[in-house]
Amino acid sequence: MEAILISKFVKDLRDLKVAKDVQLVKAKSSSDLHIRITHAAVTHVDQLYAQGLHQNNRRHIQPPFILGTEFAGIVTTAPHKSQFKPGDRVFGGSLGAYAESIVVDEKSVRKVPDRWTLAQACALGGSGNIGYGALISVAKLTAGETALILGASGGLGVMAVQIAKAVGAKVIAVVGDGEKAKMIRELGADEVVSYREANWEESVRDKTSDGEGVHVVYDLIGAVQSSLKCLRYRGRIVIVGFAARKGKMEEVAMNRILLKSAMVHGYRYGEDGRRDPSRTQEVWDGFMKLVEEGGIKPVPYKEGYNGLEEVGSALEDVKLHRTWGRAVLTIDGTAEAAQKARL
Ligand SMILES: NC(=O)c1ccc[n+]([C@@H]2O[C@H](COP(=O)([O-])OP(=O)(O)OC[C@H]3O[C@@H](n4cnc5c(N)ncnc54)[C@H](OP(=O)(O)O)[C@@H]3O)[C@@H](O)[C@H]2O)c1
Repeated sequence: MEAILISKFVKDLRDLKVAKDVQLVKAKSSSDLHIRITHAAVTHVDQLYAQGLHQNNRRHIQPPFILGTEFAGIVTTAPHKSQFKPGDRVFGGSLGAYAESIVVDEKSVRKVPDRWTLAQACALGGSGNIGYGALISVAKLTAGETALILGASGGLGVMAVQIAKAVGAKVIAVVGDGEKAKMIRELGADEVVSYREANWEESVRDKTSDGEGVHVVYDLIGAVQSSLKCLRYRGRIVIVGFAARKGKMEEVAMNRILLKSAMVHGYRYGEDGRRDPSRTQEVWDGFMKLVEEGGIKPVPYKEGYNGLEEVGSALEDVKLHRTWGRAVLTIDGTAEAAQKARL
């Protein structure tokens, strides 16, 4: 099959090339599914993986591997006792998404809700369950509280805004430009602040009901110092990503944490699942309940990408903040229509 195979990390994302005759990774367990991939998400993590710049590249993810972490597609083969059957439309997350096919454990995917296309489901990928794990399982965000979402315009951010709204919280979203501000407001954010504004943290505090700051910060960008400025006494910060840090981690004066009696928690979705698979199940179930209740919609970036040959330029667009929501690459644009025509 064709795939984006990383046999050595690249320095320039545009050097990524489509490899032919790549072997499909063999099934590891009797519950593995074979899936024809129709769409793959273009994510911040993928551009780091391609360059060997992600923390997982130190241990878990070393060449050779097939790039791509989130996808949607159609089941081609399923074990006899599986809850899935050939023809089922599924979406989820697993390494190896920039390829024509993938073999994954059935726990890594969910059925695509009938009302969504495969492209829409792909835009959701694994972003919603990460948001649910961080905001609900870890930070225990509840109705009536205020959540601050840093990195709100990105793939994880657009899900977090919707999850926080779905549980009845007020949402303050932080974004980088006017188009993204409009998009996130239309998605339901109550207040929007630009991180390009000087002292934007003051604007965040001003937008809380009593001026005391937010209850919870979802930090996707690596801004704990700013988060502490926005936080109310006894507030919670969940650190999930470092999208703004370009590899250089910030140093935080510990007295700032004490002065606010703050709780600062890291959340690493993949590692949580490796150590305790029941946690993955729990957050998927929690998130899918919100989807079924109608509180979540996919947010695909307005421009699509076509074919594995566009992976490099698509990842470059993500790296340069040109996209918002989740950029989606179409790998097989005919499979879904062909399936519908057969029904
Ligand atoms: N912990 C986990 O389990 C886990 C799992 C997956 C991903 N992650 C991490 O989560 C982060 C977000 O992933 P994603 O897929 O949502 O990325 P994304 O779609 O590329 O979005 C990145 C976001 O970061 C914002 N941003 C970038 N530079 C910024 C700056 N200097 N100041 C303020 N905001 C800035 C962008 O804002 P604008 O576009 O508005 O400029 C955008 O909203 C990444 O660091 C990723 O590695 C963590």
